[in-house]
Amino acid sequence: MSVYKFIILAFLFYIIYAKDEPKFLGPGTNVTVVVGRDASLICKVENLHNYKVAWLRVDTQTILTIGPHVITKNHRVGITRGDPQAWTLTLRDVRLSDGGNYMCQVNTDPMITQTHQLQVFVPPDIVDSGSSSEVIIHEGDDVALHCSASGTPLPTITWRREDSTEMRIEGQNVTKWRGVWLNMTSVGREVNGAFLCIATNGVPPSVSKRILLHVLCAPTANISQKMIGGYIGDSILLQCRIEANPTPNVYWSHIDENKLLNNSKYQTSITSNSYKHTATLKINNVSRNDIGPYYCHVENSLGSTLDDITVYTLVTTTLKSTTNLMETAVSASTVSTTIESYAELEMKENNPNHFSEEDNFVAVLSQHQMQSLDLPPSS
Ligand SMILES: *[C@@H]1O[C@H](CO)[C@@H](O)[C@H](O)[C@H]1NC(C)=O
Ligand SMILES: *[C@@H]1O[C@H](CO)[C@@H](O)[C@H](O)[C@H]1NC(C)=O
Ligand SMILES: *[C@@H]1O[C@H](CO)[C@@H](O)[C@H](O)[C@H]1NC(C)=O
Ligand SMILES: *[C@@H]1O[C@H](CO)[C@@H](O)[C@H](O)[C@H]1NC(C)=O
Ligand SMILES: *[C@@H]1O[C@H](CO)[C@@H](O)[C@H](O)[C@H]1NC(C)=O
Ligand SMILES: *[C@@H]1O[C@H](CO)[C@@H](O)[C@H](O)[C@H]1NC(C)=O
Repeated sequence: MSVYKFIILAFLFYIIYAKDEPKFLGPGTNVTVVVGRDASLICKVENLHNYKVAWLRVDTQTILTIGPHVITKNHRVGITRGDPQAWTLTLRDVRLSDGGNYMCQVNTDPMITQTHQLQVFVPPDIVDSGSSSEVIIHEGDDVALHCSASGTPLPTITWRREDSTEMRIEGQNVTKWRGVWLNMTSVGREVNGAFLCIATNGVPPSVSKRILLHVLCAPTANISQKMIGGYIGDSILLQCRIEANPTPNVYWSHIDENKLLNNSKYQTSITSNSYKHTATLKINNVSRNDIGPYYCHVENSLGSTLDDITVYTLVTTTLKSTTNLMETAVSASTVSTTIESYAELEMKENNPNHFSEEDNFVAVLSQHQMQSLDLPPSS
């Protein structure tokens, strides 16, 4: 065989075998998958000839597949072919422990390998044992709420009030706060309510925990008016604004301190919104016996208080001849007096204490107005 023939043969050998050695198409991939879903790692090889493609788990040095065959006993592992150059390793129902490096290997000599990475994401979860639940403090105390969450990537924690109002944290008024701690100092009663800690890590769904903060406070009671007048036969509504936590016991009394019962004469109610309460007493069919002080008594485990309001009656007689003037007799306590002129007496018809029927309204007199009436001595 001549030298030339040898060169030509060697050249042909190079074209067929050397130049067409198996080769990976594209680099190794980074695949992310949410736990419980299926994952695919794709290894593309050209010029495979009779060589074989195998998939291995790097950490455990386990052979998963060789060619079209699954070697591992893990029934979640598969190999799929579609594109003739692609050898796709499939993992069903991915678990957290499946995360790591996978090697695609071709049994050339020396062998060629390519590494693919599988990252398993886990949606956030709140770790109840490491998080605050219901917290009870007294007004003025400091409080530290804590929330801990698991997930991959590690979730961030955001806090807010359930009603989205502001919180005072580290000297700032904020509606949101980031961090596992929510620390507040010398907490006021207005902080009473529900807080949400929300864990997010980019993998839906985000989760939240509702943490109830009870800020206990002794009762305060406030009846905004000191006096209220009502026409004989009419109704009068007394309102007592209360702040107390826990929810207080409330009752009304008249002069003799006896609790007024809920019946056709007196109707009591209490509405509550967090630590704020409004107690009402409606006195029906007002008569002269109903005048005098009424007390709103408030009591909870931290203390008790009361406020009072004085009821007086008004009698109206309309003189048909007059234009804008009305004539009114005011009777307060034992005083019974007729007033000639009272242009300065304001009839506040839109006051919420009034009942809507015409000719049937309640006059509200401030203490100043009462004094400026300058009542003549009773006869
Ligand atoms: C995959 O991620 C690793 C680190 O997370 C990085 O070093 C590597 O370059 C990434 N590979 C690709 C193909 O993006
Ligand atoms: C922050 O809120 C408090 C009441 O919670 C208020 O007294 C204060 O003025 C507020 N400060 C700013 C800067 O808004
Ligand atoms: C919040 O309070 C907790 C418990 O008292 C404490 O461990 C933590 O360091 C505080 N965090 C901040 C930011 O002050
Ligand atoms: C009672 O309420 C009135 C009006 O709502 C308010 O002006 C007054 O300051 C309150 N008094 C107390 C002691 O809270
Ligand atoms: C009083 O009675 C009225 C109806 O007659 C009722 O709506 C109200 O809830 C009662 N109040 C209390 C404190 O029981
Ligand atoms: C109102 O009270 C008077 C007694 O003060 C009584 O005669 C009258 O029947 C009462 N009216 C109603 C509707 O209860």
